[in-house]
Amino acid sequence: MIARYHQPVLTWYETNARDLPWRRAGVSPWAVLVSEVMLQQTPVARVLPAYHAWLARWPDAPSLAAASPADALRQWDRLGYPRRALRLHAAAAVVTRRHGGRVPDTVEDLRALPGVGRYTAAAVASFAFGQRHAVLDTNVRRVLARLILGAGQPGPTVSAAESTLAESLLPTQPGVAARWSVAVMELGALVCTATAPRCASCPVAGQCAWRSAGAPPASVPRPRQPYRGTDRQCRGALLSVLRAAPGPVAAGDLDIIWVDTAQRERALASLLDDGLAQRLPCGGYALPD
Ligand code: ADE
Repeated sequence: MIARYHQPVLTWYETNARDLPWRRAGVSPWAVLVSEVMLQQTPVARVLPAYHAWLARWPDAPSLAAASPADALRQWDRLGYPRRALRLHAAAAVVTRRHGGRVPDTVEDLRALPGVGRYTAAAVASFAFGQRHAVLDTNVRRVLARLILGAGQPGPTVSAAESTLAESLLPTQPGVAARWSVAVMELGALVCTATAPRCASCPVAGQCAWRSAGAPPASVPRPRQPYRGTDRQCRGALLSVLRAAPGPVAAGDLDIIWVDTAQRERALASLLDDGLAQRLPCGGYALPD
């Protein structure tokens, strides 16, 4: 029954997939892990240059583990959500210490790495090691919600029923299942998009439960996360000063980059709290050692 979805989606992927570096043959598991961590919250176009620069500098886990967290944060630059850089650095240390420098190939070991949750573990196990796992990112979740359940959008969090459904749809052979996972992800990214789906280009439009139901809109449109004026923007501004400075930054130099004092202090406290910055005995601030 479900095999009727496989061939059209896999054939579509063969001719329509973007040629992305982390999907090429022979790419290392480390490179796949780096790509997945970067892609967690950042669009492909912004990840591409950062991915190449990161791997040129740290082609494997031991080389990153030998660098400092501050170097990782500087290299992360403006990708956003910079705690990911610290976690990737910590993951490199665990890979080096506990796994002889090689990214582990089981979902259990992957999940034990800092910054690697259920999605990233399944993605690395699938895309780096050709295994059979449900890989539920937002794009995959939307495709399955529409194609199988007839809903315009997936629910706010992954449910047990959704995982079971995604697993039941996986092709039997592990290598084919891994390809199916990335193909469904690509279908969600390029065709079955959140706001303007291109159903005329969809290889499974004829089997789509959402279209059969008249493509009802999602009941609640997802709110967009604002950025301007938020604590996140303030944190980013403070962090960019610390990243660019050759040494400690005096408190007064941070004061002048954000006028709202309460917000600036809150943002600085949260950077210290997250280990993204440290307060030095001299009273200045710097990236972590
Ligand atoms: N290919 C493999 N993983 C991906 C991801 N997370 N986003 C986009 N393309 C991918």
